[in-house]
Formats: sequence, C-alpha cells, structure tokens
Amino acid sequence: MSKVTISDAIRYIGCDDHDIDLFESQYEVPNGMSYNSYLILDDKIAIMDTADARVTDQWFNNLETELAGRTPDYLIVSHMEPDHASNLKKVCDKYPSLKVVSNAKTFGMIPQFFDIDLTDRKVEVKEGDTLELGSHILTFVMAPMVHWPEVMVTYESSEKVLFSADGFGKFGTLDTDEDWDCEARRYYMNIVGKYGNNVQALLKKAAALDIQTICPLHGPILMENIGRYIEKYDIWSGYKPENEGVTIAYASIHGNTAKAAKKMAEILEAKGQKVSLFDLSRDDMAEAIEDAFRYDKLIVASPTYDAALFPCMEDFLYHLKIKNYQKRKIGIIENGTWAPMSGKLMRAYIEGYKECEIVEPVVTIKSTMKDETVKEMEALAEALIK
Ligand code: FEO
Repeated sequence: MSKVTISDAIRYIGCDDHDIDLFESQYEVPNGMSYNSYLILDDKIAIMDTADARVTDQWFNNLETELAGRTPDYLIVSHMEPDHASNLKKVCDKYPSLKVVSNAKTFGMIPQFFDIDLTDRKVEVKEGDTLELGSHILTFVMAPMVHWPEVMVTYESSEKVLFSADGFGKFGTLDTDEDWDCEARRYYMNIVGKYGNNVQALLKKAAALDIQTICPLHGPILMENIGRYIEKYDIWSGYKPENEGVTIAYASIHGNTAKAAKKMAEILEAKGQKVSLFDLSRDDMAEAIEDAFRYDKLIVASPTYDAALFPCMEDFLYHLKIKNYQKRKIGIIENGTWAPMSGKLMRAYIEGYKECEIVEPVVTIKSTMKDETVKEMEALAEALIK
C-alpha cells in the first residue's frame, strides 16, 4: 500500500496499479493508476468505496490491516463504475452486517452489476442527508453526471474532508512523482470534459463547504492550496482556455501535410505563440484532446482520403464533438492531390461545435507546400492571433 496519511481516523486503503495497459480500455497511463478507497474509524466504521477488480486481494488486505480486527458498519458507494464498485458484493458477503449507503439511482444500478439482496441492508440517502459515525459526520451531496448519473460526493465536517468521487482525480499511481496539472487535466478533459455544466453545479455546492482536504478516487489526496485546484476545475469545467497558445493537430499520409503543420508551428512561434504540435497518427489522442482544451486556439490539418478525412483526423474531431468542445478560434489546413475535400469536412465538424469561430483563410495545399501556401499560412497566423 502507498504510504498515505490523512489522519488518525481517516485511513487510505486504496491500491496502485502499475500493470494496467489502458485505463477504461482507451487511455494510456504510463505511470499506472490508483484506485483510491478510504476507511473512517469512529464509533461506527465507514468504508468509502471499494476498488477495481484488478486489485481485489490487495484492497481486502489493506482493509483488514486498517480494521485491525474491527467490523465495518457502512459501505458508502459514491459511484457504480467498476473501477470503484467491483468489490461491492464481495465485501458485503464478507461482512454480513455491513450496510450499504447510497442514493436511489445507485440502488437502481446495483442489481445490474450484482446478484445481491440488499433489502435489509440498504440506507438510501438524498441531498443533504447526514450519517453520524461518532465525532465524524458525513453529509451527502449529489453530483449527477460527474460523470455518471448516480454520482454523489461526501463531506466529512469534523475534519473538513471532501470525498470527491472522480472529481479532482488524476492518472498515475500514488507513488508517481509527477506534475498534478498535466495528468489531472488529461484525466478531466477526456473523462469528465463533456459534463462541464454538471461540474460547475457541483463547484457551486462545494463553495458552501469549508474544505481542507480533498480525497478523490484517483490520484493524490489534496491537502494544501485547495483553492488552486478548485480554480483549475472552474476553468476547465467552464470551457475557458487555461493558457494562450495554439494546438496544431495534424494527420499526414506521406509527410506533406506534416511539413505544412510544422511550418505553421514555426510561423506561430516566430510571432511569440506557444505551440503544441500533435501527429494524430502517432501521438496520444488523449494528450491532443487535453491541449485542444488547454489553449485558446486550434489548427487542424488533414489530407483528403477516400474522398473523406484521414481517419485519425476524423477520430480527433469526433472526440472533440463528444467532449463538448467549445469557445475556441480554429484554423483549417486542407490537403488534396486531385479533389481536396478535407477542408469542407473539417469545417462541417467545427460548425457543429458551440461558439467556435473558424478563422479565415482556410489554407489549401495541393499535394505539397509551395510559396503561396506559406503566404496563406502567414495570413492565417495573423488572423488567429489578432
Ligand atoms: Fe473512476 Fe468514474 O470511475
């Protein structure tokens, strides 16, 4: 178990997973993943979520170690996604007196995942309900669609701890020493990004609480500078650019569109712009999505392929669409040898994004970049940054 100290009464019983290849079968996690879980020891004992089936044995070991022979009274279920709820039935089977605490939506979902009869064991709570463990008092706050419909967070008032479910989570195990912003932002944009309005609603509720510690379901426990993390979440969930700069995402079959994209990066850098460049065939899609949200401007560059978009560009634009991408200035570079179509197709995607402005001119390359192309790119750069 990672050495994580929260307080005498609140113990970390989560697990690091160094071996997972793709989180949610899609996100590269070079530094693994943590499935956080907590135990509150008081007159009554509450388990705050279980953990992924990948770490079942380790999680039960951690639980038993911290229980030190005592029996838990409650399992608080913030969320039914299997990376946290996989051991719900197993822990209920192991401790027959354990009561399960959650909201009506969660109790509706539990039978979809498990054959378990909770008739005499369920404690159904709603917004603002409290549960006294002794000196620790839990208050339940509903957080629908952050990022499943049944999500609720829990505030413990004696130690001022917010158990924030997936909110404020991050990729990477707890024993990874890396920048919080980068992997928390990649996690947020790709996993929660679509639900900015729901996160804003939760932040409003959180503003009424005195929070000294945030215990998320992934990544480090946040015990200092809480305001800074909340400010980041306010920016991200408000779809506001975090930094000035340009993300250039390109697709290239034989390298000619790549050359143009790199020239575009040079032009923008010469004008003092921060540029983040992605080869969509090779770079991590989740990083490209993260930076598209991070910066205030985006350029997409793609060849035409089978009278359509090159597939990795289609994938990128589709990702932006389902993540509710909005409020950015976007430039287009198209390429085609005999019938360029990619500009029209990229435009169609972008016109479907909320409050996105397509910045003219659209740069058209016929096979390879020429002097006139560079002039068009200069004009696009000027228009983008003005
Ligand atoms: Fe970490 Fe929504 O599960």
